[in-house]
Amino acid sequence: MIIHVTDQSGENHELEGLEGWRVMEVIRDWGLNIKAECGGALSCATCHVYVDKDWMEVVGAPSDEEEDMLDSVGDVRSNSRLSCQILCSDAMDGLKLTLAPSAA
Ligand code: FES
Repeated sequence: MIIHVTDQSGENHELEGLEGWRVMEVIRDWGLNIKAECGGALSCATCHVYVDKDWMEVVGAPSDEEEDMLDSVGDVRSNSRLSCQILCSDAMDGLKLTLAPSAA
């Protein structure tokens, strides 16, 4: 599956991900600017991304715990998600997202 990621400088990247991986892991392992300090433990919010509106339904809504964590960042939007909480699946082939400033 391919994920299209726009980084904080506006550059677009096509990243190949594997089913079952966390989207955060794909972004991090391809070397993009994502801190992901807690390594996916849902305790840092430095894996913050904006999901393209067309993909919101496929990706689904955040859990209450994830929403609480998102409340701690200043640049949250209605399409904000923590990328460590999104698991890659074939249904997400072509997924588009943008790295939030707070992920850097
Ligand atoms: Fe820390 Fe996602 S990596 S919350």
